[in-house]
Amino acid sequence: MNEATLILIKPDGLKKSLTGNILTRLSETKLEIMAAKIVKVDKGLATEHYKHLKDKPFFNELIDYICGEKHNRKKVMALVYWGENATTKCRQLAGATNPEEAEPTSIRGSYGRITTSGLYENVIHVSSNKDEAEREIKLWFTPAEVIVDLYPVKESTVNSCTHVVWA
Ligand code: PPS
Repeated sequence: MNEATLILIKPDGLKKSLTGNILTRLSETKLEIMAAKIVKVDKGLATEHYKHLKDKPFFNELIDYICGEKHNRKKVMALVYWGENATTKCRQLAGATNPEEAEPTSIRGSYGRITTSGLYENVIHVSSNKDEAEREIKLWFTPAEVIVDLYPVKESTVNSCTHVVWA
């Protein structure tokens, strides 16, 4: 079944010039890119993205990491991949969340590390399932930034300007 999934190339991936390698690896899936942009991640976006982890001991470090504070690279590349079993295919290529446990030839196994404080610097985020993908794509992208109609939208008028937003 066709579905969408969110990929983030994290600040360590950008600092290590891995964008091309990662996109080449992801092209093996034959999935289609439906949206892509470079994002300067603020604490609000980061906290909302990782809100299910707010009680974890590594939460504050994770927020600093995705905001680029740890790599002096305040940018993330966000992409929407679409196609059959997109989440499963991308997670397989990404490898296990823990880079030490990831298959050595996977993206995280090849390029990830664990810091001395125990934070996973694992280069790439992939949505964990279809529902999370929908939540995350709606958080990172507006409807106008995605070139296909993935989810229902509605019109919203603010100060006489009408925008299309997620319903
Ligand atoms: S997953 O892979 O999304 O299903 O895993 P989940 O448990 O929901 O999310 C874990 C995210 O926290 C990041 N992280 C860590 N997890 C566990 N232990 C440690 N020490 C740790 N440090 C960071 C992990 O990389 C997951 O984020 P993403 O962006 O998905 O990689």
